[in-house]
Amino acid sequence: MKVLLTGGAGFIGRHVHHQLLAEGHEVTVLDSFRPDVHADRPEPRPDLIVGDVRDPRTFDGIDTVIHLAAKVGLGVSLDDIDDYVSSNSLGMAVLLKSLGSIRNLVYASSMVVYGEGRYDCDDHGHVAPGPRRTEDLDAGRFEPPCPYCGAPLRPGLVTEDAVPDPRNAYAASKLNGEHLAATWARETGGRVTALRFHNVYGPGMPRNTPYAGVAAIFRSALERGETPRVFEDGRQRRDFVHVRDIATAVTMAASALPRQPAFTAYNVGSGTVTTIGQIAAELCRAYDAPPPIVTGDYRLGDVRHITASSDRIRHELGWKPSYDLSAGVADLVASGTD
Ligand code: UD1
Repeated sequence: MKVLLTGGAGFIGRHVHHQLLAEGHEVTVLDSFRPDVHADRPEPRPDLIVGDVRDPRTFDGIDTVIHLAAKVGLGVSLDDIDDYVSSNSLGMAVLLKSLGSIRNLVYASSMVVYGEGRYDCDDHGHVAPGPRRTEDLDAGRFEPPCPYCGAPLRPGLVTEDAVPDPRNAYAASKLNGEHLAATWARETGGRVTALRFHNVYGPGMPRNTPYAGVAAIFRSALERGETPRVFEDGRQRRDFVHVRDIATAVTMAASALPRQPAFTAYNVGSGTVTTIGQIAAELCRAYDAPPPIVTGDYRLGDVRHITASSDRIRHELGWKPSYDLSAGVADLVASGTD
């Protein structure tokens, strides 16, 4: 393939770039080197375009685009809302307009498009709880109750056909990117595969930023000799997937595009449900540090549990993750703070 890789200088992008080259593909990276993410400007290289996806351009000699460039994370406040829409929604729109005759697109989407994950009530079956109430969170009631009878719910695994329910600006902009790309595919005869990544971790994770994922935040604390602070009661469920497994999912999805329908979405996770308390404990053990502190604090934009089934990508593309949590955490710790 002759690939344009947007966001190729970022955390996931660097691993995808490496994987593409290892598989023998030709790669051009388009990356803005946002100053809030990258401290240094790169040396000029023929296979690197330093620029913003929001600037219109033409791409010659490219057959496949992998679009990873985005403003990521939960956001610190409503002040970020326009930057999410601009970077992610407008970024996708301008990129789509610039694709010309290119028909193959892989898009880095996110599990956050689902909002709260899947829940079942003994009496009401499959239900979709609304956002958690501040008074419940303040009182330490972290589990969302059944919206019909208030009974406790059993969390389950979301599948790709679940109705999206984005709960923050980042999530809304990621879902909007899927919708825009699907529109492009319908109108041009193109094909787009949206990969809804779980919580990605591994070497090269961004750190010391409020936009970083929890594994990076915990690792940074441990590197400073501090104890990780686990919010809520630590029993919130996620699926941590190693960045090298994500990179193989991306390249497999890109290679499969010519055989795919106009729009496909795949969840991409390790398949193992992990609580935030567990990953904190695993990291503390790896650093030989005292156990994490469970604070009972919360962030209003957080969902309680978000774990999805990644069976579809396994069955349809033959992808499977190679890192379990302890191997992945060992790899993260061994990689230092690069
Ligand atoms: C994360 C990513 C999101 C990605 C999604 C995929 C970030 C910021 N978010 O969302 O971009 O699309 O995975 O599923 O990268 N927590 C603590 N202590 C802390 C920080 C966080 O206990 O110091 C808890 C949070 O309250 C939350 C959990 O850890 O319950 C996960 O938080 P985080 O990694 O920030 O975000 P996700 O919502 O999982």
